[in-house]
Order: sequence, then structure tokens, then C-alpha cells
Amino acid sequence: MTSVSARRQCVNTSITELFGIKYPILNAGMGRVAFPNMVAAVSNAGGLGVLGAGSGDPRQTREYIREIRSLTDKPFGINAPLALPNGRENAIVALEEKVPVINYSMGKGDWIVKTAHKYGGKVMASVNDVKLAQRAEAHGCDAVIAAGHEAAGHAGEIGTFVLVPRLAEVLKIPVIAAGGIANGDGLVAALALGAGGVSMGTRFWTTKEGPMHQNWKNKALELDVQDTLFSPRFDGIPCRQMKTAASERMMNTKMLNVWEIFLNSFAIARELNIPWPTLVKQTLSLGPRQIESMMRMSKMMQMHTITMTTGDLDKGMTASGQSVGLIHDLPSIAEVMERLVAEAESAQRRLAVQISESGTVKCGRVVRAAG
Ligand SMILES: Cc1cc2nc3c(=O)[nH]c(=O)nc-3n(C[C@H](O)[C@H](O)[C@H](O)COP(=O)(O)O)c2cc1C
Repeated sequence: MTSVSARRQCVNTSITELFGIKYPILNAGMGRVAFPNMVAAVSNAGGLGVLGAGSGDPRQTREYIREIRSLTDKPFGINAPLALPNGRENAIVALEEKVPVINYSMGKGDWIVKTAHKYGGKVMASVNDVKLAQRAEAHGCDAVIAAGHEAAGHAGEIGTFVLVPRLAEVLKIPVIAAGGIANGDGLVAALALGAGGVSMGTRFWTTKEGPMHQNWKNKALELDVQDTLFSPRFDGIPCRQMKTAASERMMNTKMLNVWEIFLNSFAIARELNIPWPTLVKQTLSLGPRQIESMMRMSKMMQMHTITMTTGDLDKGMTASGQSVGLIHDLPSIAEVMERLVAEAESAQRRLAVQISESGTVKCGRVVRAAG
């Protein structure tokens, strides 16, 4: 039987206290993936749902925030990648709407901290090394999300198993572990490493609520831990994508087809709600490396749209963590949350048995010591 103390031990952490939530579980603020229904489902189940603003139209972001408020009265957050087009604008909308938790990535967010703290909001920065984490703490962030090398999207070079305990050692603010976590064993491991909670991307899009076309969700179930690609060729910054025909082609493409990018730029401008001449002017002002990065990003956006609409397995591409190999079904978010907590409790009991009955651990399972 699950004891109340086991449950308490598992879920009362620096993160549940900081955000006023029941379980130390967040969905990653995945741009064009973590929509209001996903956010509300996670928050309603006791975690912290995080909206992925990505480079979306700020007016749309404001509507999404209001929609989340109509779906849940629980705390929620928003992710704004500051280096992307509309990233800063989306962070400003989040501040105007007094979103309880703001998660910024790809940039410097001291200005977000100042304003959010005035209305009681909390801020967390996404980081992938010690220097970035220390800078976030110096800027007044309330927590960091530490994304290890296993993570989907813009992961760093350091694995979660090393990054999390090191940040727990050097920081005073809580650390949320991300990358390679997809079940309750991963949650307990992250807590043991010194994290106050976990943030998961791949586990949350492979659900009933995940907005990807069914073909892509089914494809995720076929993949194993080695079936992702990590390369700067996707959008100019080292990034982890699901291994597909299209992502392999893109990784092997040294020179992009400029004509194709030019044609695609009209659709991108429409989607971002930025006048086409402004988009071109902004892109050209960035310098040669960033221009290439923006061009690659626009191609990536186009391929991501395919994963959401046509389900064409040859042409689409989406971010995916190595944790895709740990995912074997497509449950609802409520089921994922319930299972995470049950698995975490079970993992804790296994470990406790080991201590109290002097068992030894074999392949992650406790067996009684000989003699
Ligand atoms: C489809 C997808 C989109 C993502 N988009 C963003 C984003 O817009 N901003 C961001 O900071 N991280 C983004 N990420 C990365 C996550 O924040 C997180 O670091 C990662 O998903 C953790 O690894 P996991 O997928 O193995 O759980 C994305 C991840 C996925 C899977």
C-alpha cells in the first residue's frame, strides 16, 4: 500500500512550493505544440502547464493566455524564446497579462524578472551550462530549467545526469531537470540528483492532446533512444530532432535552396504576422551567420507544419528527445500525470526496500542480498 509519507516525500519539493502546485512536473513550453488544452490539462492534473509561445503572433499569444484562464484556475506558465522573431514581444504580452510563471530561453531576461516580481510572478530561465545558470540566478530568476544533452530542441553538450547535480551544487535557486525524462523512475532520479522537479517535452506531445498528426505520434512509438539527430544544421544552433528522412536530408544539406526559402518567407511572414518587408529587413540586418540560421529556421517551421497537418512522414520533421525510446503508448495527459506519480512512488518503495532489507540492486530492480 502506498503510504501517505511516501507520497509526501515524493511530491513536496522546492518547485511545488515555489509555484503552489501539487506535483513537481512541468510540460516543456514547446512552441507550436504546447497549446492551451495541453497547458490546462497539465495544470488541472496538479503539474505546471507551460504555453509554448515560440515565435507566434503576440496577439494570438494573448488570446491563448486568456483561453488557458478559461480552462483552469490553477497556476500555469509560458515559454518565450527571446532570440526568435516575436520572442520579446511574447514575453511582454505575458507580463501584461500577469502570467504566474514566465520561462524565457535563448536570451537575457533580467528585464522580465523585474516586472514579473512586481506582480508576484515567478521567472525561470532555460539553461544548459553552469555559466548561463549562474547568470540567470544573478539576474534574479526564481528557478532554472536545466536541459541536458538528451533533450529535444536546443540542447547543450552536458548530459542531464551531470548538469543537474552540478547546478544543484552551485545554485541557491531550485533546478528543474529536463532531457531524457519520460517516466516516474526518471522523476525520482532527477530528485535524487538534486532537482526540485522535472520538465518534459517529448512525453507530453506523444499524448492524446499532442497536436501532431497521428502518423507522427505513431512514428514516435516505433523509435528507440538512438533515433534522434543532434546538429547545428537544422536552425544554426545545435538542436535535437527526430530522425526522419527529412531531418537526415536537412542535416546533410550544406547549402540551402535560396529560391525555396524565398518562396517560403511569405508564408512565414503571414504566420508570424510580420509584414514581409519587415521580416526581410530584420533578417538581412542580422549578419551572414544569423541570416543562414533564420533561413534554416524557416525551413524547419515549414517541416514542422507538415507534422501538424498532412502527417507526411517523408517531408515532416519535429523536435524529439532521446526519451522518445522510453515512450510506448499515447495516453491522455491526465493518465501520464497519474502514471508518473504512481511510478515515482513505486520507485521510491523499491529503493526504500533496498535500504531497510539490505537488498542489492540488480538491473534497477531490488533483490534480496544472498545470505
Ligand atoms: C516539439 C518540441 C518543441 C520544443 N519547443 C521549445 C520551445 O519553443 N522553447 C524551448 O525553450 N524549448 C523547446 N523545446 C525543448 C524543451 O523545452 C525541453 O528542453 C525538451 O523537450 C526536454 O527533453 P525531452 O523532450 O526529452 O523531455 C521543445 C521540445 C519539443 C519536443
